[in-house]
Amino acid sequence: MIRVAVLGSTGSIGRSTLEVISRHPDRFEVAALVTNRRVGALVEQVGRFRPPVAVVAEAALPSDPGGPTRWDTGRDAVLEVAAGQDVDVVVNALVGAAGLEPTLAALQAGNRLALANKESLVAGGPLVLQAAGRGRADVVPIDSEHSAILQCLEGYDRASVQGITLTASGGPFRGRNHNQLRHVRPSEALNHPTWDMGAKITIDSATLANKALEVVEAHYLYGFGYDHIHAVVHPQSIVHSFVEFVDGSVLAQMGFPTMELPILYALSYPERVEDGALRTYDPVMASPLTFEAIDHDAFPLFGMGVEAGRRGGCAPAVYNAGNEIAVQAFLEGKVLFPDMAEVVHATLDGVGNHDVHTVDDVLAADAAARRLAREAVDRLGRAEETGKSA
Ligand SMILES: NC(=O)c1ccc[n+]([C@@H]2O[C@H](COP(=O)([O-])OP(=O)(O)OC[C@H]3O[C@@H](n4cnc5c(N)ncnc54)[C@H](OP(=O)(O)O)[C@@H]3O)[C@@H](O)[C@H]2O)c1
Repeated sequence: MIRVAVLGSTGSIGRSTLEVISRHPDRFEVAALVTNRRVGALVEQVGRFRPPVAVVAEAALPSDPGGPTRWDTGRDAVLEVAAGQDVDVVVNALVGAAGLEPTLAALQAGNRLALANKESLVAGGPLVLQAAGRGRADVVPIDSEHSAILQCLEGYDRASVQGITLTASGGPFRGRNHNQLRHVRPSEALNHPTWDMGAKITIDSATLANKALEVVEAHYLYGFGYDHIHAVVHPQSIVHSFVEFVDGSVLAQMGFPTMELPILYALSYPERVEDGALRTYDPVMASPLTFEAIDHDAFPLFGMGVEAGRRGGCAPAVYNAGNEIAVQAFLEGKVLFPDMAEVVHATLDGVGNHDVHTVDDVLAADAAARRLAREAVDRLGRAEETGKSA
């Protein structure tokens, strides 16, 4: 039996993980469930999966949950679950840089990490690699693009690989220019054409910041230099990524879009497990497959993020933190869609770059970035107000 701790069990990836687990009771069991505030949803999940431990990070525990589950609360309890000795795989499906310390805790304890929380690799890539090395633990990605790369690389040494290409759906605003994006509403940005995901990653997909985070994630996961990691828009989300070999051959991993497949692969890796609930691929139904270049003018957050990755040091953490604040401000109606790039730009400009050696270095850069990003939000929000009233 593989004992799985699900951090972020009430979110989109967390719920899909529990669906996958429920279909394979002979292989997987739930060792712990962790949520932030949605206590009601967690109580239901605990009733269904009866895990030994349930944790609520930032809200009060239910008054009398009953049952055999031990309930706990607070950040330390989240880290305890991640580092648990009664756990084989930790699924990190938290959102944002808040996932970094649980990622490190899981790896330092030698627990396999099934990683959805890309922000932890972006913010603290070198620290995550160190922790994985010391704990001798695997990091297996849940992101469909990185799962695709892992599957295509299986059996090849890195010297035979020329480069990789991540695919991007292009989001709901593909084809629109910079001016047309000025007044798009959060509700339109939340309406993703091919994937049903949590709010933050859905907005990141609309700005293409998500693809920049994934380029940095791929750099740390697979060790390719930035000149060897490419991205292309593929609106159908059928080809999840490509690997190009030195002889010119290209392998791709394909399938109808569902996160349950990469989740199952991350839980069972390196084995492949039959799952009748996953839709069989049909090339005729999937046709046509099209590809186009990223529009850097309309979606500047992509280039900005890749550039932050290239710079290294704390720049990726600063980009990520600025972006988290920008997304929140857009969702709350405080800034316009193109302002998100302005916020991140001002944040990267304001925080000087320095090396990161410890978690505290990353957390300090993250905190400084959030302060600057909030100031930029206030400035842009006020400018907007003045513009409206003029
Ligand atoms: N959704 C996808 O299809 C998809 C695909 C690829 C990668 N990812 C990545 O997977 C991660 C999760 O995405 P998602 O779409 O599943 O997000 P989501 O639906 O917003 O869910 C996030 C989960 O994390 C919990 N959480 C958030 N902050 C926390 C904290 N500080 N401490 C403890 N728990 C916390 C939330 O609890 P509450 O419910 O209490 O708020 C919720 O359970 C992100 O990094 C995203 O980029 C997602």
